[in-house]
Amino acid sequence: MVELSVRLGALELRNPVMTASGTYGHGLEMCHFTPPELLGALVSKTVTLAPRPGNPTPRICETQLGLLNSIGLENKGIESYLEHTLPEVEKADTVIVTNAGGESIEEYREMARILDGQGAVDAIELNLSCPNIQGGALPFSTDPAKAAEVVAAAREATSKPLFAKLSPNVAHIARMARAVEEAGADAITAVNTLLGLSVDWRRRKPGLGTVHGGYSGPAIKPVALHCAWACARAVEIPVIGCGGISTAEDALEFLVAGCAAVQLGTACFADPALPGRLVAELHELLRREGIASVGDLIGTLRDGREENLEARSGNGEERPKGIPVR
Ligand code: SIN
Repeated sequence: MVELSVRLGALELRNPVMTASGTYGHGLEMCHFTPPELLGALVSKTVTLAPRPGNPTPRICETQLGLLNSIGLENKGIESYLEHTLPEVEKADTVIVTNAGGESIEEYREMARILDGQGAVDAIELNLSCPNIQGGALPFSTDPAKAAEVVAAAREATSKPLFAKLSPNVAHIARMARAVEEAGADAITAVNTLLGLSVDWRRRKPGLGTVHGGYSGPAIKPVALHCAWACARAVEIPVIGCGGISTAEDALEFLVAGCAAVQLGTACFADPALPGRLVAELHELLRREGIASVGDLIGTLRDGREENLEARSGNGEERPKGIPVR
């Protein structure tokens, strides 16, 4: 037997495999493909205070190597989530993470306050990074001070574990990571989608109704891995890797790079049974490699930078440290 359980701060996950927000329904819609009891955690699609109709169509556009989306946080709002989704989700035997979105600090604070009172919610993931609202210029996604304000406001409103989901569309993700950690986040999800564009040159038209959107899928894995690694080096709180993961090998790359858990996103659209299968593959892979516990791999990347960082510490970007998080 291989030990697959991991710790995410105060939470214990039975394995490091989580679903990524927006790719596995709001509640248990997808759980006939992977029963919740096989998952490390189930993350909801973003819920907002008021219902949102979403963006103009087309909202999804397949590209050579990935997927562009511009859903625009379509959802029925928190009242419907509490009335219809949570009572069902409550029955699931897994860690439940509600992803909360907003367009103002007040909205995030109110979402955190409301979710704080919900026994079925084990953690709140703050979506600071949707590229499909406010024309891709949501201030919380790129400005560390603004991101910190959101997290601090939510922190005041809830004692539940708070995850901050960051954008890769920044120059220095380590600064974002440190800002949200200092503001009270308990974990960081790295990362959301990359800004992208698809063009049909014959029709002179963009592939998406909003012109640009969020790019995801296997092509972004190296970018996501770099972001997750940079975050894990910059903070003490756990980092959850997300972006282009579709195999057990991918998941292990993120864990070795410093992540305490991973989220599966776009790959679930092509194969909704993937999360359950990936857990089994992870177990088998580690068994074959003679690794007794997945936790032993977390943050074990030998990147040869220890000495370099020693020399460079003081530039404020990264600080040298050992295994970041268990
Ligand atoms: C969307 O609803 O537009 C996607 C969610 C996100 O990228 O955060």
